[in-house]
Amino acid sequence: MPTLSFKDRVVSVALTRAKELGFTTVSCASTGNLANSTAAIAAHAGLDCCVFIPADLEAGKILGSLIYSPTLMAVKGNYDQVNRLCSEVANTHGWGFVNINLRPYYSEGSKTLGFEVAEQLGWELPDHIVAPLASGSLFSKIYKGFNEFVEVGLVEAKNVRFSGAQAEGCSPIAKAFKEGRDFIQPEKPNTIAKSIAIGNPADGIYAVEIANKTNGNIESVTDAEIIEGMKLLAETEGIFTETAGGTTIAVLKKLVEAGKIDPEETTVAYITGNGLKTQEAIQAYVGEPLTIDAKLDSFETALERSRTLERLEWQQVLV
Ligand SMILES: Cc1ncc(COP(=O)(O)O)c(C=O)c1O
Repeated sequence: MPTLSFKDRVVSVALTRAKELGFTTVSCASTGNLANSTAAIAAHAGLDCCVFIPADLEAGKILGSLIYSPTLMAVKGNYDQVNRLCSEVANTHGWGFVNINLRPYYSEGSKTLGFEVAEQLGWELPDHIVAPLASGSLFSKIYKGFNEFVEVGLVEAKNVRFSGAQAEGCSPIAKAFKEGRDFIQPEKPNTIAKSIAIGNPADGIYAVEIANKTNGNIESVTDAEIIEGMKLLAETEGIFTETAGGTTIAVLKKLVEAGKIDPEETTVAYITGNGLKTQEAIQAYVGEPLTIDAKLDSFETALERSRTLERLEWQQVLV
């Protein structure tokens, strides 16, 4: 994933089709990762690019687009307002919008996350998957990908349970699931998980349908739990994920603790973006390096101090 999120998959499909259709300018409404991928792949493909993001995104996501020299529009508003503006721009300019007029191709790109898992599990489907939900497209296309592999005979059919993860500060899909609704009530996002902060998700209702028919769940977690999830994955697996991955891990933990995922099941947690992109979210929770002089005694003193600190922290945990 050259731009460090799964969006490289969806954009490579969308922009391949954009070229075939003769578009010379490509665009998207993005929560950050999609803009990074669209700008990068447009640069590689020799297409003009203008991408739209909410103005309050993390520095890594802004830099991660600017480096490819697109026109970057930072809109004063949330993603849903950005998206609305983009629908109007798509109507007035003849541009290919990855997630608007090219959306069918973009969303098919997410099937590769289903294909890849089946292949990596030795041409078998897992028992359960947990994936983050923003618009709900990734979730529903993993489902489609699994079913297509069954249809062509590459894997045996299985009732894979589908569980979705949202941040409490933007959880319209989780709420619809929990309240047994067949419609999404849009909401205004307020969470550190900005990449999945879509208050009016286009494919939200399909995600609810899939979770229901596969006997899965859709859960939400607080920002504090998301940070814990990021740390847990880093400390136990050596994977530094962004806030969307922290959401997935926190929901996975919650579902296991609630007895809704059996630890003996083969469960796949989709970690869809890299932690270097959302440093602001985690900076205050990872401590500081020990700055020392280039002398052995300075090292020994610092080491002793850090061990004492560790012991004290453990004592506090035990109390
Ligand atoms: C890192 C990351 N994971 C997951 C998603 C969810 O994508 P979808 O809109 O397909 O639900 C996004 C969306 O932007 C994302 O950036």
